Amino acid sequence: MCGIVAATAGNNIVPVLIEGLKKLEYRGYDSAGLAVIAGNEIERTRAVGRVAELEAAAGQIAATTGIAHTRWATHGVPAERNAHPHVSGGIAVVHNGIIENYEALRSELTDQGYVFTSDTDTESIAHLIEATLQTNGNLFAAVRLACQRLIGAYAIAVIDQTQPDRVVVAREGSPLLLGLSDSGNYAASDASALLQVTRNMVYLENGDIAELTASGIRISRLDGTPVKRPVHVSELSADAVELGNYRHYMQKEIFEQPEALANTLEAVGGSKTIQPGIFGAGAAGMLAGIDSVLILACGTSAHSGYTARYWLEAIAGVPCNVEIASEYRYRTSVPNPRQLVVAISQSGETADTLAALRHAKSLGQENTLAICNVPESAIVRECALRFITRAGPEIGVASTKAFTTQLAALFLLTLVLAKVRQRLAPPQENCFLDQLRHLPVAVNKVLALEPAIEAWAERFADKQHALFLGRGRHYPIALEGALKLKEISYIHAEAYPAGELKHGPLALVDANMPVISVAPNDDLLDKLKSNLKEVQARGGELYVFADEDSQIPESDAVHILRLPEHYGELSPILHVIPLQLLSYHVALVKGTDVDKPRNLAKSVTVE
Ligand code: F6R
Repeated sequence: MCGIVAATAGNNIVPVLIEGLKKLEYRGYDSAGLAVIAGNEIERTRAVGRVAELEAAAGQIAATTGIAHTRWATHGVPAERNAHPHVSGGIAVVHNGIIENYEALRSELTDQGYVFTSDTDTESIAHLIEATLQTNGNLFAAVRLACQRLIGAYAIAVIDQTQPDRVVVAREGSPLLLGLSDSGNYAASDASALLQVTRNMVYLENGDIAELTASGIRISRLDGTPVKRPVHVSELSADAVELGNYRHYMQKEIFEQPEALANTLEAVGGSKTIQPGIFGAGAAGMLAGIDSVLILACGTSAHSGYTARYWLEAIAGVPCNVEIASEYRYRTSVPNPRQLVVAISQSGETADTLAALRHAKSLGQENTLAICNVPESAIVRECALRFITRAGPEIGVASTKAFTTQLAALFLLTLVLAKVRQRLAPPQENCFLDQLRHLPVAVNKVLALEPAIEAWAERFADKQHALFLGRGRHYPIALEGALKLKEISYIHAEAYPAGELKHGPLALVDANMPVISVAPNDDLLDKLKSNLKEVQARGGELYVFADEDSQIPESDAVHILRLPEHYGELSPILHVIPLQLLSYHVALVKGTDVDKPRNLAKSVTVE
């Protein structure tokens, strides 16, 4: 959503703030701002657009204490007056999240004489802290008391010109961590922003408030009780968040998939058997007692859930439902305490998925598993079991390596559940594990198709619409292909199970509607071929991602790309890769902002 960086140190922190914002720009990128204390006064600079605009506007500003923000608009259009920091008297505030009672606070503070100059919910936090400071001269205490009045989700950082050597931060619902070093102390929305200065991170809990000076930190709960939080040494390499030789993070992340899968599959190493323990202590008992699976997720993560449903039911024999988190959290459902609730999320902070998980637990469903890429995230912390995908930081807004590593994790879950239900004979187990271990090599071979896919991309540049088809476990892959294309190239794309074509969407097919089909050589191939004939008969142009042995003849209106290996149950992991590459190259041809597509943000920490 939005990104926060704060710093107080013995030297100039402005370059740290700017560099940190650049690392967080994936979280929001419609405007940016910073405020520092210079000569005992707040000096604020804000700019609409990217962090580069702010950097230019900030010029030669230098200071030892400051806060900064990159915004993804929720309340109020992207405009300088709505950009953070927001100031009130001598204080300045940056905020990530949504304050639900901001209208009540706004009218109360207006009555007290405060004048609002923005449309944001954040400005009410600034005035509330300023008002509290009037009766309580201590910034730490004033922020603590003000936070007690906030309803909603927030991570905030605050500075006060009368206490120029400190920053106060607080979190409830939105991520925030501290970075500790000998030369100063820092705070940010995620670790990537602070790797430039330190690896020593302290993850704040919901309801924590912290005061940072150049020489130390103190943390308390909102009721004032002091607490200690452990220091984690981040394993993220600075390289992991650098672009290197790639043009875009999305391209880098697509090509990192062999390594991301290899790292994620280290959980099964060279072993010939799979153990429930890879999902955490207590997994064996919990997984033996469940009678079904409920998957909760959003967007791309939901697509990995839809794919897993095919595996879980066919291989493990476990009934499985997949629910879009934003729907599940508000509908009346029938709870089942023996169900395993699986929350899938790259970021682990997605507000809808977190709320759906809490809702599931509130209905007495305590068997919970997080499949997530961020170990310290809220979703991981709130689940009984966990599997951490080891994709490394995903910066491009369009999810790629997080998706394929989620699929690998979900396949491991399938194997464990099949095993505890005595549905997995040792030779079959061994064979699946070998296939999993071979995946990085197989993915590399698919990535080698890039030049051919690039050539196809040219033909999509002038299209307004596209249809994606798949069958069985490849239908969710068609859904994912359509989502990738629409989010980064802005071409309207829809996905259908190929058998549904004749029930409506066939009416759309003509020479201007490219139809992209995922066509592995599986037991549904013959059915799929008949569906493709229906497209051909209506003059449609087909782009088919087949297997080497899929036996689909090429013609003027049927373009075929053959994947080098047929991969059985795990084929969805290979077949999504050409679709990622296709959308990437179409976006390049169209000249869109691949890593930061319009209107989107990476971690959706608001509802
Ligand atoms: C699409 C995409 C989004 C996310 C969704 C859930 O490319 O990235 O659809 O998958 O916002 O995010 P996480 O997985 O962080 O919960």
